[in-house]
Amino acid sequence: MENSLKKRSQDNLNKDPKALFIEKDFNFGKITKQNIEQVIALDKTLFPIEYDENFYKRLYGPETESIVVITKQTNEIIGVATAKISTKIDDWWYPRIDQGYIMTLGVREDHRRKGIGSYLVSKISTHLFIQKKVESVTLHVKADNKAAINLYKKIGYEESKKLPDFYEINNEKHDAILMNYRYSTFLKNNPKFKQNQKQQKILIKEKTLKCF
Ligand SMILES: CC(C)(COP(=O)(O)OP(=O)(O)OC[C@H]1O[C@@H](n2cnc3c(N)ncnc32)[C@H](O)[C@@H]1OP(=O)(O)O)[C@@H](O)C(=O)NCCC(=O)NCCS
Repeated sequence: MENSLKKRSQDNLNKDPKALFIEKDFNFGKITKQNIEQVIALDKTLFPIEYDENFYKRLYGPETESIVVITKQTNEIIGVATAKISTKIDDWWYPRIDQGYIMTLGVREDHRRKGIGSYLVSKISTHLFIQKKVESVTLHVKADNKAAINLYKKIGYEESKKLPDFYEINNEKHDAILMNYRYSTFLKNNPKFKQNQKQQKILIKEKTLKCF
C-alpha cells in the first residue's frame, strides 16, 4: 500500500502541472451509446463539417478509440478525441503494420487554453503507441488551423505533406496538412516508456528510411 502511494506521488511529480490540474477537475470516459448525443451536439459547435449517422455509430463501436472529458460538477462533455487503427500490408519489412489515425479532437470554447486539448492528444497517442503498438500516428488538419497545428507540434507531430483542396466545406475547397508522430519521437518525449520487440523493428525501419 505504502509503495503504491509512493509510486503514485512519484508519477505525479513527473507529470506536467497542467495534466494534474485537469485530472483533478475532470472525469474521463469513452464514447458510448448513452453519451453519443452529447458528443454529436458538441461536435456541431466544434467542426465546420457534419459527420453522418454511420460515423457516429462507429464512434462507440469496438473499432474506435475515444476519450471524453466530463465536468465533475455538471457531468457535461467538454472535450473529445477519437482515433482508429488501420492495418496495412507492408512490402518488405513486416507482414502487417498498424497505424494510428486521429479522427477528431475538440474542446468546448469556454474550456480552451487550459491544456485539455494537449492532454487529450497526448493520452490518445500514448494509448495507440503503448497499448495498440502502432508504428506511427497520423492526422489531417486544415492548413489554416494554427491553434491545432501548434498543439500537435508541441506534442511531437511533424508536418509531412500539404494536401491542396483536401476538404470541401460549403462548396469551397480547403488545403490540409498531413501530420505524423513517429514512434522514435514519442519515445524521446516520453522516456519512461520502453520499446517493445515489435516496435524495435519500427525504430530500425525509421533509421533505414532516413538514409535514402
Ligand atoms: C485545437 C483545440 C483542440 C485546442 O484545444 P485547447 O484545449 O485550447 O489546447 P491547449 O490548451 O492544450 O493548447 C496547447 C497549445 O496549442 C496552441 N494553441 C491552442 N490554442 C491556440 C490558439 N487559439 N492560437 C494559437 N495557438 C493555440 C498553443 O501552442 C497552446 O500552448 P500554450 O497554451 O502553452 O500557448 C481547440 O482550439 C478546438 O477545439 N478547436 C476547434 C476544433 C479543432 O480545430 N480541432 C482540431 C481538428 S484537427
